[in-house]
Amino acid sequence: MSKNVRKFLIAGNWKMHKTAAEALDLVEQIILDVGKTTDVNVVVCPPFTCLESVGRGLEGSTVKLGAQNMHHEKFGAYTGEVSADMLRTLFVSYVILGHSERRQYFAETDEFINKKVLAALDGNLSPILCVGETLAERESGKTLEVVKRQIDRGLVGVTGAQAEKLVIAYEPVWAIGTGKTATPAMAQEAQGAIRLLLNGHLGSAAGAKVRILYGGSMKADNAEALLAQPDIDGGLVGGASLEPRSFVKIVQAAQKQAPKRGH
Ligand code: 13P
Repeated sequence: MSKNVRKFLIAGNWKMHKTAAEALDLVEQIILDVGKTTDVNVVVCPPFTCLESVGRGLEGSTVKLGAQNMHHEKFGAYTGEVSADMLRTLFVSYVILGHSERRQYFAETDEFINKKVLAALDGNLSPILCVGETLAERESGKTLEVVKRQIDRGLVGVTGAQAEKLVIAYEPVWAIGTGKTATPAMAQEAQGAIRLLLNGHLGSAAGAKVRILYGGSMKADNAEALLAQPDIDGGLVGGASLEPRSFVKIVQAAQKQAPKRGH
């Protein structure tokens, strides 16, 4: 088996929280502790309205900026939407796509999400494609079937050459915002299966380069055990990313594991 050299990525999904001024305050506190981090990639994903202020706050730090959504068209009559190019001009490097809240409340389909994944890659952004099962799906034994459908449809047209830019987030819906975390073994089982799907889509050399994050009630006290799993390459953190000390502790948990991957 080849050596795992994927660098950990810890991304904070701030969801619909923080005004521009509050966001700047939060990011200033985060970069005090992890603003020079190079052994782990750190990303913050504020609402669109805070991208500019947070981007300014991140200047001179190693922390990168992410958005929470985008439209696949370059421009046009799409009221309320923003394009990859618009995000790039604000120095955004990552974009969360297909989050379960977008799927659930805004009826986003795998096909629609796939268009965004391709547009993000085309626009030189790293898509963080979210997949994961609901509680009912897990209880009826459909976890891997659901995740396979989301990956197969979400990655149509993505090539092995794009693997290093691609990020997948496994977020079991029942673990999001509930305080119920998947056990490290449960998360590894799903993420190991995702790795095999990626190998099938992109070829195994490329599949080995894709980072797979875990998301769903990741906190300072459970991060280390999750990040010790071979196919958990980081976290997509919701609630705990709004509290600077918790977020910093999760980054530090990844830093503790980083030497094992040669970083
Ligand atoms: P919580 O960490 O609040 O469970 O949210 C996870 C999530 O949805 C990240 O995208």
